[in-house]
Amino acid sequence: MKTIRIRKFTMLSLFFIFLMPWIFLVVAHFVETKTFRFEMTDSQQNNLDETIQLIEANSENWTDPAWQNQLNHHLQKMNMGVSIFSEANKVIYQTSAKQGFKETEEFSVIQDGNVIGRVAIYQSNSRVIPMIAAFTGLIIAFLIIGLAMKRLIINPLEQLSLGARKLSKEDFNVKLPSSRITEIAEVRNGFQVMVAELKESFQKQVELEDERRFLIAAVAHDLRTPLFALRGYLDGLEQGIAQSPEKMAKYVAVCKEKSAQLDRLVEDLFTLTKAETFEKKLNKKMVDLSQVLKQSIHTLRPLAQQKNIHIVESAFEHNCIISGDPYLLERAINNLLDNAVRHTPGSGEIVVQCYKDVDQAIFTVRDTGKGFSAEELRRAFEPLYRGEVSRSRSTGGAGLGLAISKRIIRQHGGDLTAGNHPDGGALLKGWIPLAKTSQLLEGI
Ligand SMILES: Nc1ncnc2c1ncn2[C@@H]1O[C@H](COP(=O)(O)OP(=O)(O)OP(=O)(O)O)[C@@H](O)[C@H]1O
Ligand SMILES: [Mg+2]
Repeated sequence: MKTIRIRKFTMLSLFFIFLMPWIFLVVAHFVETKTFRFEMTDSQQNNLDETIQLIEANSENWTDPAWQNQLNHHLQKMNMGVSIFSEANKVIYQTSAKQGFKETEEFSVIQDGNVIGRVAIYQSNSRVIPMIAAFTGLIIAFLIIGLAMKRLIINPLEQLSLGARKLSKEDFNVKLPSSRITEIAEVRNGFQVMVAELKESFQKQVELEDERRFLIAAVAHDLRTPLFALRGYLDGLEQGIAQSPEKMAKYVAVCKEKSAQLDRLVEDLFTLTKAETFEKKLNKKMVDLSQVLKQSIHTLRPLAQQKNIHIVESAFEHNCIISGDPYLLERAINNLLDNAVRHTPGSGEIVVQCYKDVDQAIFTVRDTGKGFSAEELRRAFEPLYRGEVSRSRSTGGAGLGLAISKRIIRQHGGDLTAGNHPDGGALLKGWIPLAKTSQLLEGI
């Protein structure tokens, strides 16, 4: 839509306010005088002369009704009025009074040296009606400008203020009318963008709030389960239910296992919160991602060996240099390998890859377990989500591993995705941007 600046609008309004009275004045004058000239025209002067001559030449007929009738016709044609008085100042003849007529000529008629009468001629006063018309034009101009201002300026501003009040009550259903005034249209567009962004951030906040509430409920639940078990066994010990030393040892072992479970849960929650809170405070240095993977495999190998699982390093490219925090990265990859070991049946295989692609360091962890179900694929990265199998296991984790890994990888500017390999088994794929030359020189 074409818009005009407020300065231009004001200038046009002023011009219009000056122009309208003039148009009305000129039109009224023209309607009245049939001419655009404001001073007496030659034909008007001629008419006047003709009338004076007619009256002077017929002084003996002044009282004759036939002549008066003829004069009346003449005067109507000329748009004039006349009063004829006798020498004793008595009215002999007078046209009916007309509004807006003014006396333009008055003279005495003399015959043989004697004053026989006095004549006054009235012509239309071409000022009054045009002035009234001009004033009307001025009022109409003010009305039109007022209406235009209301529609173009006041209404949109009122809508903006209404919108702002609605926003303060978290009502984002704000519809603003467009304006042909550039400045107001700009404010309106800015306001519209602000409403859209506020709406988005409000929705995000609601979602975050939901997630936080869910997390707290889930954490409370997960802390309560081992705590209940712990209390039960400790009560049992206190009440002397475990009489034999073997039974006592079993009770203590369960208590230790439960406290270890609690310890792990709290530790994982702490890592997750830390990953969220200190997002920008990574302890970054130049790291070879293949070395991190190797270190992680080294840590998990004993666990894999217990189940006779092979961890194979395939397509391992060295010098996948990235800028990152080696401790956090190792934690991220440990979680993936830990899952792979847990979900791979005995004598299975875990294949780990690491390679470069354009400006990314890519790694994959594939196992020979049963892979992710559709529901798990959708929710695996949700904090505290556990698949059915993991949930039913008494020693199952808290469902934080993948959430932590994804957050750590994202903190490094990359991402982590979960899927299934076409030949079966879960396939986790992650990427992190390779260090830039400038970073390599600076060593971070
Ligand atoms: N390699 C895998 N194969 C099949 N399913 C998996 C695999 N890795 C993860 N999952 C599924 O994804 C869910 C979430 O994994 P995640 O690592 O976040 O939690 P967890 O392993 O259950 O607990 P935690 O890692 O906190 O000890 C798991 O419960 C499991 O159902
Ligand atoms: Mg896990």
